[in-house]
Amino acid sequence: MPASTDNTGPRGTRNPLSSTSLVSISDLDRNNIDLIMRESDRMREAFRARKSPAELRGRRMAALFYEPSTRTRLSFEIAMKELGGDVVWADMRSSSAMKGESLEDTIRIISSMSDIIVLRHYEKGSAGIARKFSSVPVINAGDGHGEHPTQALMDLFTIRVEKGKLEGLKIAVVGDLKYARTIHSLAYALGMYDNDLVFISPDELSLPEEIRGELAASGRRMEFSGSLDAALDADVVYIPRMQKERFESEQAYDRFAGHYKVDMAFMKRAKSDVIIMSPGPRIMEISTDVDGLKNAVYFKQPTYGIPVRMALLNMILGSRLMG
Ligand code: NCD
Repeated sequence: MPASTDNTGPRGTRNPLSSTSLVSISDLDRNNIDLIMRESDRMREAFRARKSPAELRGRRMAALFYEPSTRTRLSFEIAMKELGGDVVWADMRSSSAMKGESLEDTIRIISSMSDIIVLRHYEKGSAGIARKFSSVPVINAGDGHGEHPTQALMDLFTIRVEKGKLEGLKIAVVGDLKYARTIHSLAYALGMYDNDLVFISPDELSLPEEIRGELAASGRRMEFSGSLDAALDADVVYIPRMQKERFESEQAYDRFAGHYKVDMAFMKRAKSDVIIMSPGPRIMEISTDVDGLKNAVYFKQPTYGIPVRMALLNMILGSRLMG
């Protein structure tokens, strides 16, 4: 199929993400996300059939990671390479940043050497700063306790594939709602769909006020609880690790580590078709006994990151949509 010049799909669908950055999930509206989901379906089919289109041949992704990563790093790299693109990695923990170079300067330099920047940084707001100083699009792959929008997209995609829909569900989000950036992006994203949301945390780790306010304004049905029992009738339970590195002290973390645990005792009382999700890594919040159950989708979840990141990279950098 010839590449269209106006960056639309074969059915004439317009691509609203061409040459744009993704800093917050709120950069996207419901229509954008629905389109990303459809494009991800097509990328998933192509990837499985080993027929990924070489749409990004000659394009280079620079990945700047100031914090550790396994799943995000690998799936961005696989996604870019599947589409024929090139990837260069900078582990910023062993770079000029260590000599005191500012993020602004690093971004100015790297954006002159690449077509897109994927940034993971330990400070909230860093991806927004990068967008300001970059001459190419920037994707936020996690900014401190801020956001992690591509994780939210793959989480939505996981729910859509595993539950067959993105609405009419009861979705429980459990644990460190204060610091887990994956939860912040997911909460904003879920606010765009009609579901019942349950936020479960100790008072000290509750959802930031700004996110709560936005969800309330969207009119979503929300429940807040301190007990995991509030998740017993949920269709989806999402439980990341406690974000140890964001607590003010080891003792503060120790007070909450292991506070909630999805184990067999919970699974016996929960809905039989509940899906258990985690962005990973799992530390102690999901018992290994649960791993063998069909409800455990947390090992499958990272694989959904590949088609979603393929779709996103192609929408931002490519010359045509898949559908
Ligand atoms: C998450 C992150 O880095 O925010 N990991 C990931 O990208 N899948 C979650 C975490 O570290 O707890």
